[in-house]
Amino acid sequence: MKTNGASTSFWLASAAMPSFAPLAGPARADVCVIGGGMAGLTTAYLLSREGKSVVLIEAFELAAGESGRTTAQFVPPDDFYCEIEKSFGAEGARKVATSFHVATDLAETIAKTEAPDCGFERLDGYLYCLPGQDMKVLAQELDSATKPGVEVERLANVPGLPFDTGPCVKYVGLGQFHPVRYLAGVANACSRQGVAIHCNTRALDIQGNGANQIVQTAHGDIQANAVVVATNTPFMDRVVMHTKQSGYRTYVIGIQVPRGSVPRILLWDTGDPYHYLRLDSPPSASSTDTLIVGGADHKVGQDSHPEHRYGEIEQWVRDRFPMAGAVTHRWSGQVMEPADKVAYFGRNPMDQGNVYLITGDSGTGMTHCTAGAIAITDMIMERPNAWADLYDPSRKATHGLGDFVKEQANTLAQYKELVTGGDVDEADQIKPGEGAVLRQGASKLAVYRDESATLHVRSAICTHLGCVVAWNSAEKSWDCPCHASRFGVDGEVLHGPAAAPLGPGKFRGS
Ligand code: FES
Repeated sequence: MKTNGASTSFWLASAAMPSFAPLAGPARADVCVIGGGMAGLTTAYLLSREGKSVVLIEAFELAAGESGRTTAQFVPPDDFYCEIEKSFGAEGARKVATSFHVATDLAETIAKTEAPDCGFERLDGYLYCLPGQDMKVLAQELDSATKPGVEVERLANVPGLPFDTGPCVKYVGLGQFHPVRYLAGVANACSRQGVAIHCNTRALDIQGNGANQIVQTAHGDIQANAVVVATNTPFMDRVVMHTKQSGYRTYVIGIQVPRGSVPRILLWDTGDPYHYLRLDSPPSASSTDTLIVGGADHKVGQDSHPEHRYGEIEQWVRDRFPMAGAVTHRWSGQVMEPADKVAYFGRNPMDQGNVYLITGDSGTGMTHCTAGAIAITDMIMERPNAWADLYDPSRKATHGLGDFVKEQANTLAQYKELVTGGDVDEADQIKPGEGAVLRQGASKLAVYRDESATLHVRSAICTHLGCVVAWNSAEKSWDCPCHASRFGVDGEVLHGPAAAPLGPGKFRGS
């Protein structure tokens, strides 16, 4: 199945999504949902249960984006309740706690009714401090999480592990599942409920106003009263949302451990970037479980050869779990980090009408996507929602200003690549299976040499706001260091905010 990168996740290697035919001509619906991952499918599912007619379109196949690359955990905010309380007050932390609680409950209910094979299970999670870090954060988190009623306790260490974590916060009753099996169930339920799902149908633009929206595709226009953009990051506004969040790549390995040797828990630390861990057990009798461990994040487009990050995670595992066996899977995914540490879902700030978006999911995509789907369903059904105001994408970034300034400075610094040389001087320095940026006169070219030595040449200028893209050898893609767009070796958009492919490259010589 074609996805937005060359690596294949444990989930997509172990289950299949249903596929649906592309749009066959103009269509009309109450709501057009753009994006066939967790956010889009859950929104379509909820709205169709309310009696709305829904068309859902997806540029590739369902779950081919970040929902197929997640580690599929329902965990607390990865910036901690104490940070949210500092920025948004106790009331803000309470709204986050409520939204996370309701979202996890809803996913559990959907799992039971629509995807009983997805292995949804409740389990406890543990946050521990790295050596040398200030333990005060654990006390602060305990205090801030307790106030809104999150079930937490402090322990001297995480029980049952082969290494001593030291003091930790235990969160009771979190969740995990197999995301592809879950989304397959939701997609099939959507289809039964009358949702018209079309794969391989890319939204090119959204035009219109009020309740008269038109989503343009190469297969025909879709008219709708409302549009929900659930594409991980929105593609239709060029600036506003992209100064409010930053894209990071995160790396995951699946590594075998003897069955039962690692407790069924969720685990993460206070590092930056932090490590996160869960377990998956095959439904059939097997002598091994798969330990799924992630981390080693970096800004999108700012490491052209990131494969060493898999090795770093593997070493981290082997240092702590000496019984670990073979690495069976390696993959990477993308997380959008909101500047003020709270996700964005609600009305598009550029429109304030009937276009809605879900983005800024950080490391809690499954929870945020579900909470966002609930909030947007409430908004479209014109009823109150208990937390939508906190997540409003129009809010000003008055919190986390230090991080905001740092991220913007990092973005601006990337534009220097417009005037520097290339990664290589000549195309014959590029080995088969590798890519490099090459300067040719005033232009920069993104040059990929495939395994049969054929060159694929595109402009290296990102079609979003003109940064120079960088090679990503782990995913065989061109990644933009400014606002995290990604493109395939033939220029196709793999991840927004860019909406148009890389332009043609005029390459002289080979
Ligand atoms: Fe904005 Fe590339 S993603 S310039």
